[in-house]
Amino acid sequence: MSTPAESANLMEAIVSLAKRRGFVFPSSEIYGGYNGFFDFGPLGIELKKNIRDCWWNDMVRRRDDVVGVETSIIMHPKVWQASGHVDGFTDPLVDCKESKQRFRADQLFFAAVVIDGETKGYVSALESDDTAGALQTAAESFKRKQAIQGTLAPVEPREFTEATAEQIPLIPSPATGQPGSLTPPRAFNMMFETHVGALRDGSSISYLRPETAQGMFVDFKNVVDTGRVKLPFGIAQIGKSFRNEITPRNFIFRSREFEQMEMEYFIHEDADWEQAHKDWIQWCWDWLVSIGLPESHLSLYDHEKAKLAFYSRGTTDIMFKYPFGVQELWGIAARGNYDLTQHANASGKPQEIFDEETKKKFVPHVIEPAVGVDRIFLAVLAAAYAEEQVTDDKGKTETRTVLRLSPRIAPVKVAVLPLLKNKEALTDRAKALYQKLQRRYAVFYDEAGAIGRRYRRQDEIGTPWCVTIDFETIEGAGDTFTLRDRDSMEQKRVTEAELLALLDEHVY
Ligand code: GAP
Repeated sequence: MSTPAESANLMEAIVSLAKRRGFVFPSSEIYGGYNGFFDFGPLGIELKKNIRDCWWNDMVRRRDDVVGVETSIIMHPKVWQASGHVDGFTDPLVDCKESKQRFRADQLFFAAVVIDGETKGYVSALESDDTAGALQTAAESFKRKQAIQGTLAPVEPREFTEATAEQIPLIPSPATGQPGSLTPPRAFNMMFETHVGALRDGSSISYLRPETAQGMFVDFKNVVDTGRVKLPFGIAQIGKSFRNEITPRNFIFRSREFEQMEMEYFIHEDADWEQAHKDWIQWCWDWLVSIGLPESHLSLYDHEKAKLAFYSRGTTDIMFKYPFGVQELWGIAARGNYDLTQHANASGKPQEIFDEETKKKFVPHVIEPAVGVDRIFLAVLAAAYAEEQVTDDKGKTETRTVLRLSPRIAPVKVAVLPLLKNKEALTDRAKALYQKLQRRYAVFYDEAGAIGRRYRRQDEIGTPWCVTIDFETIEGAGDTFTLRDRDSMEQKRVTEAELLALLDEHVY
């Protein structure tokens, strides 16, 4: 297990590598950045596209029971009333009147400082990998500063949402360390509002979608009527979603603009929904493993039945061990027929399917696997990042930074490297191979610098293989190269046909 300091260092290393090598930049950086928004650079967009493409290929193209759609980001405002988002898509918000900072009440924790059985005050801490530890340390510091004698009881952390009206004025703000400035929690709607059309009044209010899912529900009938689909079947979509998160944090983990990959799998009202739910959890798990996430970092979390929305039959999250703690990566929800029923009632258009066997119409139920591309992006970087000591041929030891990305998602699949820059026979052959590979794969040509340094540059961005065109290539039939493996650093001679077969096997 890594210590908090190691985890913080890993996170820092990932953010730094992401910036240095052009994976992720803060949005609008020259204006000081914009909290909760990010840009993806030349390598980042390749990695992101590969994650999306793998999901789309596996989820849509390679399945006969799932079709895709792309629906508009701004939809009729009635969609969000019917779905419940206008009234209920809220987080509990707490203001600090002193610092003007805002916190999510369910991410702000407090505890009474109890000495010899008596409450002497309160401490607070924002949710972290070790919230209880932070509160205990704060309680010890409180006791020391107030010079109170006696035995301090172990702290009992509570969410700020549970604080009573009497406790709230006594709980210190995490921003100032002083009590008296925190407001009681209030519901804050996370949808971004905008106006559609030339008028700017209440009637023109629209929303940037906070999830892609509603697009699939609203287009359900269109797909059924045109798509030759039969139950059970799914409708999938990849696209941007927007949430005015109170506390965007942990780099791209929780941002205000992000990308979702969601699929609504419609099943018969009498179908075994528990089995379908289980099958999709397994599918999502296996898919994450197929793009290189180690099973040791994955776990399942079943939401408590009592805390589920009334329409929900069950939700299981696939959790990932991020450097800042185990957090939700992918939610798989059994949503009953709530959404279609809501839209049928609000629009007056039935959202039913005709059952040929029973000759009855019914509203299908749905299983919804919903995941964020950015969360997968961060998970694969965290799992792939490694620093290791290596010794070269001359006995010199150095630190090698390597991203052990799966070839399925690595931004560059192969780097083509002529051994020497100033030897035309080498560069010509290298360029010919580069151009041939480029027709099917993302490849990189690099002739600058010593070969060892060029290997390191590729290791750092996760390129699984480097191909060196050397004298043996040009002195022979021109058909063998040195293939260097990123992870083992082993080198072997391969033919062009072997190289193509290797790529075909691993990049899909
Ligand atoms: N349609 C259901 C739905 O949207 P959700 O749990 O709110 O469910 C699904 O979101 C997934 O979207 C999450 O598991 C997460 O991967 C991603 N996600 C949600 N909010 C996010 C945010 N603010 N930043 C990045 N990803 C987010």
